[in-house]
Amino acid sequence: MGRCVLIVGGGGREHALCIGLVESPSVDAVHVAPGNAGTSTIATNHDVSADDITGLVMLAKTLSADLVMVGPEGPLVDGLADELRSEGIPCFGPHAAGAMLEGSKDFAKQVMLNLNIPTAGVQHLTAETNLDDAVDLWGSPWVVKRDVLAGGKGVVVTENREEAIEFIRTSIATDGMVLLEEFLSGEEASMLVMMDESGYVALPCSQDHKRVGEGDVGLNTGGMGAYAPAPVATEAVRARAISEIVKPMHRHLSNQETPYRGCLYVGLMIDSEGAPSVVEYNVRFGDPETQVTVPLIASDLCELLLAVAEGRLSTSMPTFHDAHALTVVLAAEGYPGPPVKGREITGDFTDYNGPEGRAFIHHAGTKYSGGKFISSGGRVLSSTGISSSLSDACDLAYSKLSEVHLEGSHFRKDIGYRAL
Ligand code: AMP
Ligand code: GLY
Repeated sequence: MGRCVLIVGGGGREHALCIGLVESPSVDAVHVAPGNAGTSTIATNHDVSADDITGLVMLAKTLSADLVMVGPEGPLVDGLADELRSEGIPCFGPHAAGAMLEGSKDFAKQVMLNLNIPTAGVQHLTAETNLDDAVDLWGSPWVVKRDVLAGGKGVVVTENREEAIEFIRTSIATDGMVLLEEFLSGEEASMLVMMDESGYVALPCSQDHKRVGEGDVGLNTGGMGAYAPAPVATEAVRARAISEIVKPMHRHLSNQETPYRGCLYVGLMIDSEGAPSVVEYNVRFGDPETQVTVPLIASDLCELLLAVAEGRLSTSMPTFHDAHALTVVLAAEGYPGPPVKGREITGDFTDYNGPEGRAFIHHAGTKYSGGKFISSGGRVLSSTGISSSLSDACDLAYSKLSEVHLEGSHFRKDIGYRAL
């Protein structure tokens, strides 16, 4: 009997999950709320927002969904998984208490410190703090983090003392407090770990490109491109990350009254000796990391996600393709500031299948209207290449991207440069 899956969200991550689930042999029907133009061409979109917890639970019940796969963190922090489970509907994604690991950087830091997990030192700054003493403790560069969900935009890393103090002041004025972190140097990688109380599995590590400009300069974004596997996460680094970070987190999360069932995204900083520390936790798949990770999963994606949602991952471990994936994000004019929306995207959206590999478009901020693809967000789409080598995956992704056009759009031309 084929399964019915509901995906929550509407970005490139959700389109990647949608493609994986449509291709799952055990799946009959895929629904997405709200989805995007890409998901509408292969699954059924529903006009229910990813923030509308009541509407999503009603939709899952109406569809008799066998699994709800939650993409973004917002609904998890707001308790979507708790509501679904109380209705007996399996959900991939942690309950609200588990989602606090992303919902509060301060809470996540306390958990790490209690478990002795390597991470940057932190100071809590309030209106009472002597800011000169605080910023002089570790000196430049300064890492200032608001303790709010800000879509990756609540963090300032700067060598400019005035800028750091200004961001600290404005954050304290709006939030009452702000975190000042010790600066970690090294190279970042994203480790996506699927876990439930029965076990865990780390997916191939990937590397995101968070800054808007080539060579990692300019403003922070949600992510301008990614590739996997990332060679910086060598077997030795992965082994250390598993034993020093993932195992203690898994033991801790499995011993809670409600166990963690979903993806724990571990943002790693790997220093020059190969020692990993945690930069951040997210409680969901990454975007654009998912676009380069899901295509590497060889086994049935639905079976894997459902096993986690039902707490039986250890009996359903995935297998992976021996391949490389790279994705390049096409962003709208103005992004990461307010993006220009409502422009037509033209060109050839069909998948490429050739001797070197595959390439295809993952939609993100797109709508299908009047027979046209229209831009509707900051990160509009990403072009993904899959091949037996990273350089071929890169060529395929850029070649496919050159076939689609959006006025005023921009993309980074150096995705994968650290590995290539
Ligand atoms: P976060 O939202 O906590 O992931 O921070 C956003 C980005 O800021 C990270 O991806 C890093 O590039 C950078 N960052 C955050 N914390 C640190 C730190 N302690 N040291 C160095 N860079 C950091
Ligand atoms: N690409 C970073 C994130 O998903 O948080």
